[in-house]
Amino acid sequence: MNRTTRILSKPWPAREATPAVTVNPPLYKGSTVLFNSYADMLKAGRHEYEGISYGTDRLPTQRQFEEAMCELEGGTVCRVFQSGIAAIQTALMAFTASGDHILVCDNAYGPGQRFCRKVLQKYGVECTPVPPDVGADIALYIRPNTRLILLESPGSITFEIQDIPAVTAVAREKNIVTVLDSTWATPLYLQPFELGVDVSIHSVTKYISGYSDVLAGTVTVGETHARTFENFYKMMEIYTPAEECYLALRGLQSLATRLKQHERSALTVAKWLESLPMVDRVIHPALPSHPEHHLWQRDFSGSSGLFAFTFKKEYTDSELAAFIDSLTLFRLGYSWGGYQSLITAAKVMRATPSRYAGKTIIRLHIGLEECADLIADLENGFTMLR
Ligand SMILES: Cc1ncc(COP(=O)(O)O)c(C=O)c1O
Repeated sequence: MNRTTRILSKPWPAREATPAVTVNPPLYKGSTVLFNSYADMLKAGRHEYEGISYGTDRLPTQRQFEEAMCELEGGTVCRVFQSGIAAIQTALMAFTASGDHILVCDNAYGPGQRFCRKVLQKYGVECTPVPPDVGADIALYIRPNTRLILLESPGSITFEIQDIPAVTAVAREKNIVTVLDSTWATPLYLQPFELGVDVSIHSVTKYISGYSDVLAGTVTVGETHARTFENFYKMMEIYTPAEECYLALRGLQSLATRLKQHERSALTVAKWLESLPMVDRVIHPALPSHPEHHLWQRDFSGSSGLFAFTFKKEYTDSELAAFIDSLTLFRLGYSWGGYQSLITAAKVMRATPSRYAGKTIIRLHIGLEECADLIADLENGFTMLR
């Protein structure tokens, strides 16, 4: 046999290899997955094969992460995606069809709302924004063809909290699917299925992966809608790279420990900000001053490291630039949930009336640095505004 042919046709695992049991699971990569026999291939063709038939059939690394998330959330089926936004988009497509109407919470992740307006609309799905602090009053917006409600609680810029059990009670009566983006709370601080939610979404990119080097998302579905979603996912032949699933699984191992630190430091910084005369509002669900603090207390078992504040005075862009650019620990960038603290500043754009209309929202992601250093960094930055 030719030398190259011999190398290329070497079976795996190599016969002489000693099995190694590592702490972390192996990373499976593959497009082609080999069948043992033609009979198995025929079964796969008839959709009767029980093994994995192709790379898009969810290789073991992907399945392992999905199973871990499903168990943490208490759902029936979990599927992973190449980003949080892909998870949102696919969930919306799986449960809607032309002629449907959906309700979208006005504080939901911007690109998700844009997808509803620009893409779903194109396929005949109409979308209406609802106030970000909606509860039982969701009933006012429901039409005979309303099929889905997209919630995000708390929203990741202005942190309004929805009365989730009140919304899901109304939705259930009318067979409307409720979808919740629960990224802020992670599966550790909110159990959406216990509050009646049908579909729970996470941007794994944030706390779950934890190092700002992974893009991934999950959709976990409760029993009623599990088969519909499973079939849709399969039909779309979605695939998430094994490396991302591996890193997400690894992130899960330390999530609880990291999150406690994010929570503690964020609350310390938030309380310190509340004591400053130049600060108007600190928008943090775990502070008693938050308008829906009672809902947070009732439904959540903790808070994460992302919150916002507003100044009493509206500063110009160049004044804000002097403040933000003087910071050394808070870095300027999108996303959150990593070990490094981040800052963003922008005026919010809302379709429904907002508490923060016309105000610049300064959003902080509190990372894993020493809290006193973060406060000193902000204090130093504020001198540029005084
Ligand atoms: C609340 C929320 N959901 C979803 C997403 C989208 O996640 P990804 O960046 O993984 O696409 C983001 C991103 O910032 C987010 O803040």
